Amino acid sequence: MTALDEIDKILFSEEQIAERVKQLGETLTRDYEGKNPLFVCVLKGAMVFFSDLIRKVDCPLEIDFISASSYKGTVSGELTVNDIPDITGRDVVVVEDIVDTAKTLSTVKELFLRRGPASLKFAALLDKPSRRAVKDFELDYSGFVIEDHFVVGYGLDVGQRYRNLPYIGVFLE
Ligand code: IMP
Ligand code: MG
Repeated sequence: MTALDEIDKILFSEEQIAERVKQLGETLTRDYEGKNPLFVCVLKGAMVFFSDLIRKVDCPLEIDFISASSYKGTVSGELTVNDIPDITGRDVVVVEDIVDTAKTLSTVKELFLRRGPASLKFAALLDKPSRRAVKDFELDYSGFVIEDHFVVGYGLDVGQRYRNLPYIGVFLE
């Protein structure tokens, strides 16, 4: 079985993603001119987008990583964020693969704000606004707005598979 047997259609090709990532990098380069921002990758899904994006941002940035895990079953939707870096006084850009309900990034936002960053912004390659549970969460940098599809590739997985696809496809459910 090949990947394409489980992919309904390609939503964004490798070239389309590269072009959008380049544009986001240019915007971030302008917005962080003269600053020394800390880019924080939300593992695992964002790692592919993150590694492409930081190479399109032309300023003296630093990188760090967090992971978010949810405990399903006992307390529904409870989320733990692991390995929070020292962000006090820093200009922080959190980079995520996709925003769905926004529970992940709104939890990260709350935890990060308590630590007193100089500024805190959120970037995601994909945004599914129709699925929002946390209504007041807004992205500062968004690659593509998509319909309510389950997508895989370019870091995004289903059961840990397909993260290595160079494009983003709709998973056949
Ligand atoms: P949120 O907390 O509901 O916004 O969920 C965000 C997380 O759910 C992302 O970091 C992904 O790991 C996962 N997720 C949401 N939608 C998709 C999808 O379409 N494909 C793969 N993972 C997804
Ligand atoms: Mg994720």
